[in-house]
Amino acid sequence: MKSVPRTSSFDSTLALLREGYTFISARCDELGSDIFQTRLMLRPVLCMRGEAAAQLFYDSEDVTRVGSMPWTVLRLLQDKHSVQQLDGERHRQRKAMFIDLAMSDNEIAALVDRFRDHWLSQVGDPETVRFDLRQLANLALTKASADWIGIPGSSRDDRRLAASLARMIDSTGSFGPSAWIALMSRRRTERWLASIVEAVRDGSLDVSGECALKTICLLYRDVDGRALSTEAAAVELLNLLRPISAISRWIVFLALALARNTDWQERFRGGHDKEIEGFVEEVRRLYPFFPFVGARLRKDLVWQGHPLGKDDWLLLDLYGTTHDARLFPRPAVFNPKRESSWRNGDFRFIPQGGGRPETSHRCPGEKMTVAILQETLKLICRSRPVRITPADANIPLGSIPASPAPPVSIILAHTEANAVAARSRR
Ligand code: HEM
Repeated sequence: MKSVPRTSSFDSTLALLREGYTFISARCDELGSDIFQTRLMLRPVLCMRGEAAAQLFYDSEDVTRVGSMPWTVLRLLQDKHSVQQLDGERHRQRKAMFIDLAMSDNEIAALVDRFRDHWLSQVGDPETVRFDLRQLANLALTKASADWIGIPGSSRDDRRLAASLARMIDSTGSFGPSAWIALMSRRRTERWLASIVEAVRDGSLDVSGECALKTICLLYRDVDGRALSTEAAAVELLNLLRPISAISRWIVFLALALARNTDWQERFRGGHDKEIEGFVEEVRRLYPFFPFVGARLRKDLVWQGHPLGKDDWLLLDLYGTTHDARLFPRPAVFNPKRESSWRNGDFRFIPQGGGRPETSHRCPGEKMTVAILQETLKLICRSRPVRITPADANIPLGSIPASPAPPVSIILAHTEANAVAARSRR
């Protein structure tokens, strides 16, 4: 048996806050090990990276997500009562609902259509030529997801909702006032969603046709045969709204990748549809989103010759694994021909988790994410002349989640035809 290497510092919280995305891999490199132990917020933690570690997280019943995240992060992201906090058969049944809702081709096409319409109606405004890309994408995605879920427009304030959803993601790495503001706004959003759930259930809000709102509020049953509580239904509705709006973060990186690789941008202007997916997947590999995920061990076990104990707290380095030169040669180079794909279900390309989504905590929204990014690429490259600026924006890896500084904008060349189209929509 080999003991797990330790960092020299007693507690690494400050180092993590300073280094962000590179914190785990820098120490793995230094210690020559894919696992090390340290403390975060004084709590002992085992940090891991690589394929075998991803397999432990996504192909084994020996870990649970319960108790694996700081309270604020849990509340801002998945939350208690959510699918991510379930294990075993309870998890599989709830997850099957997400797979049905988020991975069917028809559902994805319906969401993409709505996204395209909301994007075009914003950029069709002849008065505006410069758009903050994150805001543009976030609003288009928020409106598209709320429409697609089945929440009537009359029950929504889209701008407020978009701002609240963005705040939940943007504040995951913060403590103090900004996290508290995000938590308050999340609670408001949950209360609003709970009122929608109640209205659907008491018949005061009619849901005609199949949609996620109907499935979650009226049709779905957990393994015990019971419908979701109002609270759990609101959390799971938010588990669709929040991550769909979060795709806007990747849209910004997609635009940066196009601005930095103008040969590809030119290529896509004239077709080459088959290569779009490879480009988008390379964006998901290279650019930072969630740095790591947490888990807790449910029993003692030996991993790669190291004895690990029940209840040990584990962190899996998602970013470090997709930047590991053993798995992705010359990892800093943007190369859309790597043939990485969510379809492979492997344990190397893990920006949204690894393995099979049906039986693990892998994200059920990857196919949808890739479809939205593909559509955005076409909207950017093919609608009309667009300038993406600044192409040399810095992406500080010390902040979680990372965003380009300064923010990325797109500048559109408006034509008379656009102005006419915009007028006719009013
Ligand atoms: C914006 C891009 C996205 C990123 C970076 C992302 C990332 C992730 C990651 C890393 C996990 C695994 C968490 C873990 O192992 O504990 C996950 C799970 C999850 N994601 Fe996503 N996701 C994204 C988009 C989506 C979308 C569009 C949806 C909506 C369908 C979604 C819904 C979920 C759900 C419900 C889970 C929990 C799954 C489970 O516990 O079984 N995500 N996501």
